Amino acid sequence: TSNDPWDESYKKADQFISKLNSTERVNLLFGTENMIMETLLWNKTTMNGHKCVGQIDAFTNSDVNFKGMCLQDGPAGVRFAEGTGISWQASINAGMTFDKKLMYDVGKAQGEENKEKGINVDLAPCANMLRNPKGGRVWEAYGDDPYYTGVCAAETTKGIQDAGVIACLKHFVANDQETYRKSSSSNIEKRALMDVYVEPFYRSIKEANLGSIMAAYNALNNTYCYENKYLLTDILRDILGFKGFVMSDWWEITNDDPIVINSGVDMNMPGGKEYGPFVEERKYSSFGRNNSYWSNLEQQVKEGNVTQERIDEAAKRIIATMYQMNQMEDFPEVNILKKTNTEERKALQRKVATDSQVLLKNDGILPLNISNLKTIGVVGNDAFERDCLPSRLPQCLNDTNEVINGHIPLGFGSGVTNFEYLITPLAGIKSYAEKHNVNVLSSGKMNYTKGEGKKENVSVTATEDIEGGIEVANNSDVVIVFVKASSGEEFVVLEEAIGDRRDLDVWYGGNELINNITEVNDNVIVVINAPATVNLPWKDKVKAIIFSGFPGAESGNAIADILFGEVNPSGHLPFVWAKDEEYGAQIPHLENLTVINETSQQTYKDKYRYDGIDCHLKPDPSGKEQINYNDGLYIGQRWFNKNKKQPEFPFGFGLSYTTFDYSDLTLNMNENGLEATFNIKNTGNRTGKAVPMMFLTFPSSIGEYPEGIFKGFEKVEIPAGGTKSVSILADDHALSYFNVDQNNYVRVKDGNIKVYINDNANLTSPKLQSEIDA
Ligand code: BGC
Repeated sequence: TSNDPWDESYKKADQFISKLNSTERVNLLFGTENMIMETLLWNKTTMNGHKCVGQIDAFTNSDVNFKGMCLQDGPAGVRFAEGTGISWQASINAGMTFDKKLMYDVGKAQGEENKEKGINVDLAPCANMLRNPKGGRVWEAYGDDPYYTGVCAAETTKGIQDAGVIACLKHFVANDQETYRKSSSSNIEKRALMDVYVEPFYRSIKEANLGSIMAAYNALNNTYCYENKYLLTDILRDILGFKGFVMSDWWEITNDDPIVINSGVDMNMPGGKEYGPFVEERKYSSFGRNNSYWSNLEQQVKEGNVTQERIDEAAKRIIATMYQMNQMEDFPEVNILKKTNTEERKALQRKVATDSQVLLKNDGILPLNISNLKTIGVVGNDAFERDCLPSRLPQCLNDTNEVINGHIPLGFGSGVTNFEYLITPLAGIKSYAEKHNVNVLSSGKMNYTKGEGKKENVSVTATEDIEGGIEVANNSDVVIVFVKASSGEEFVVLEEAIGDRRDLDVWYGGNELINNITEVNDNVIVVINAPATVNLPWKDKVKAIIFSGFPGAESGNAIADILFGEVNPSGHLPFVWAKDEEYGAQIPHLENLTVINETSQQTYKDKYRYDGIDCHLKPDPSGKEQINYNDGLYIGQRWFNKNKKQPEFPFGFGLSYTTFDYSDLTLNMNENGLEATFNIKNTGNRTGKAVPMMFLTFPSSIGEYPEGIFKGFEKVEIPAGGTKSVSILADDHALSYFNVDQNNYVRVKDGNIKVYINDNANLTSPKLQSEIDA
């Protein structure tokens, strides 16, 4: 007998489905309305706060009472909750903690919030890869390492699902840029596909019983992911053994071709047909039982295009997943506005935000010694309160799609939340300084012109207040300069970037601001709020740099705790930080009005976007934009190593206010995998958290493969002067690679595995190294 936890759920699902007629079975497979979208995007109706971004209708018959299914975004907390939920940090910040337990705890807390609000499926986590830091949604995922992203996603998935909510890992697969996201093909050879882009989904499926997966908008090797049987069946079911259900991304299904359901998509979300410029009467999405591309599924069965077995299989996968999470017995009514923002969860949010801060440079100025200071200067618009876009007043819900100006605690797109409150950096610093009777001077009034109406018309003429900054700097003992950049999903355009950043400079003249400040004050500390790396032309002129990411509601408290040494920084970069924007993969910068067809003078916006909202229709699927993943296995740090290029900061980099010594490495190969055991001594005078990392070079018998790849880590707190013994395990899968001939993962053998223990991916002089027979 098998002890697969899914068996029982599938048995129950079988029984359940047998009590449904054919219409009821089909109705489980697509949604019929999306009130929130219609309200917020088109101001059509009033939002009542009880609707989900996607939902399957409830129904009853004489034998069953199906209570429906509510699906809601997303990775940074419950979307559209109007200040009733926690505004969590971006996932990239969870990744910056290198703390598995914290990631699990966040997943669990988010899962509990979803459940309390009656949400069955949390549209999180996101496991796409940072191929280039410009990628609009990199802050929604965990960086540029396949192994690491897989671990982060799995810990989060475990947390969400232990709370009784179905996690939806997205976007499967290779949706790694926003420009052309619905009209491009990510072209990847099989080995890189499996070991780099599918790898981040692997552990959630194998170790966390992942409930659902979202098929990405883009094509893989020229077949759209939602109609890609090779991806959704051959890889996902046959190789990975996925047992849950596959849903489409929103409005990605734009025809009634049976190839979509036959390739392995089980659920069409949100269900209604899409709006677009091509069919004027469908300017708005339309919903209802008869208005989905899947409305005719019963007819398709009659005509022999789809089998009844395939319909039943899809329905069963959905219902079995609900049984897996015990949702069929008893589940709270949908109430997105139920209060879930408890003090305990706020405290956890603050802890993650704080533990995620990455100290990139420190000439010894940090932590600030408050007793030596009279006046602290806080400069830069990013330190300040936010303003709602004029067009969104008075009903502005205070999420990052609706505010311009002020502190950026999250990127933009579907992964935002409505902030109940936001501790700005200025507020965080002031509350600490004032307790110690230290004066805070500030400047950050932004000169900007507001566009009217649509989000994308927000003017980019905003500039930092340099004069005000200089005045503050002239009168302060130390100046903390806050600079920012943002990115997000294609349907919002800020700074003329179509989701993806246009370049890696900080926005609004932040570089100029810093340069000017360093001319009048020697004690300059820079804090960067951004989705990932930015250019640092002033790096040598400043005393300290903190990369803060997008820390969420408790942002200012987290930053202040690090600045003043209340917490010893322990964040590390989950991506490599290049000099001069030089990465292994590029993303073109297109503006909305970039002409993409010389003959017709058609612009990006003409072709792909409508009325400020992206257009999901694919008028011209044959003309897909080709994105060739020529970097293959050499993503992130691997590309730098291969090309012998020095990055600005390697993957894993992050300083502490203390120092650690590593010694006494022993290696041991046992049934669990490869275990490295060693000692870490805290050689400084403060308690701190070390993040030892393990990098492996596989035996050359497997053929050409990247060297020194990341395969394990731990986070350990060690008191000043103390020593701890630490073990890092590279498990069976970590010791495997995808063997194309065998079409499966194969454990490395025949030769030696080189093992490096270090606190970042620069292996020129690792803290410890050894090797062991594979
Ligand atoms: C995004 C998904 C999101 C969905 C629902 C899509 O545009 O790509 O990540 O879950 O919308 O909001």
